[in-house]
Amino acid sequence: MREHFGREDLLPFWVADMEFQAPPGVIQSLVKRAENGIFGYEYRPDSLLDAIVQWYASRHQWPINKSELCFSHGVMHAITSLINLHTEEGDGIIVQPPVFFEFRIAIQENNRTLVRCPLIKTDKRYEMDFEDLEKQASDPRNKLLILCNPHNPVGRVWTKEELQRLGEICYRHNVRVIADEIHADITFKNYRYTPFNSAVSGEIAQQSFTCLSPAKSFNIASVTDALVVIPNQQYREQYKAYINQFFLGKPNTFSVAAMESAYSHGGEWLNQFLDYLQDNLDYLRDFLNNHIPKVHLVEPEGTFLVWLDFNDLGMDAKELESFLAQKARIALNSGYWFGRQGAGFARMTIACPQSMIKEGLSRLEYAVNALAE
Ligand SMILES: Cc1ncc(COP(=O)(O)O)c(C=O)c1O
Repeated sequence: MREHFGREDLLPFWVADMEFQAPPGVIQSLVKRAENGIFGYEYRPDSLLDAIVQWYASRHQWPINKSELCFSHGVMHAITSLINLHTEEGDGIIVQPPVFFEFRIAIQENNRTLVRCPLIKTDKRYEMDFEDLEKQASDPRNKLLILCNPHNPVGRVWTKEELQRLGEICYRHNVRVIADEIHADITFKNYRYTPFNSAVSGEIAQQSFTCLSPAKSFNIASVTDALVVIPNQQYREQYKAYINQFFLGKPNTFSVAAMESAYSHGGEWLNQFLDYLQDNLDYLRDFLNNHIPKVHLVEPEGTFLVWLDFNDLGMDAKELESFLAQKARIALNSGYWFGRQGAGFARMTIACPQSMIKEGLSRLEYAVNALAE
């Protein structure tokens, strides 16, 4: 906090994780595994693969083929590996800002070219700019697109039609798609996550990679591996060889325990979390409308992150950043971290006790009112 905001007394709403303990079953399985006391080399048992496949089949009606499942130590690790495998230095990689800032870091740190195809903000929500996408995808220097579904930070849960259209454009121009679906399990009432892989035709899916993880859904980011679904056999073998080249294939024993327990028994816990999250969202929306009407909620369809529009306060990006930290004393992610399109916005994590949201919003209300004095 001190490093980012210069002080430590802010209420934290910035990191994309929860202020809640993981499901009791996950904690128990970790304790049990720890008590076993034997921590030699681990492998990924069939029961883990079965739990993963069962989760996506029952929760999302997506029948993942077990043989297409690969692993990584985290979603960004998978994305970085895929960037290295499927592009050369200098190649263009398309992203749709405002979007999760680590995409930019992964692209630039690997000496690839960041190609922006910004989302369009309409009155109510953000949409993809398909015309621009067609233009960017048709440039032969651009080889890959990183899709964020559901989208961090703007909260869109992309529809089947949107995913199909994106998939068709990319396929037509030989642009492969990495679908980062780490937020898949977290959607609000009336919205359903559609996997890119199942929205598109088989030949398009063959040119795609889907990254998944229980990290966000169960608050286990620091103790879990991630998954990559790679339908194309040749790409899958290349991926596994690449992981092995760096000896990164062996799992951590606690990751196996946490992941298997979460996917086997975490469903009811997640349902309860989603109900609570919906309540937090409803509270936040009402509070902003009634008490801080100059701050606008971009209504999220999924993720536990909300994208707040502060443009009516009339501050530039740096002024807003300083106002939120120094005056309101809340730690949010400044919108410009997600691309210059995010200036004037900030991202807030609402996966926390409602009392914390109440305190954060009343700090914000006080600071906004003080501006008028
Ligand atoms: C869209 C998205 N992808 C990836 C990550 C990070 O995933 P991991 O910690 O597994 O690398 C995050 C975390 O906030 C995220 O929001």
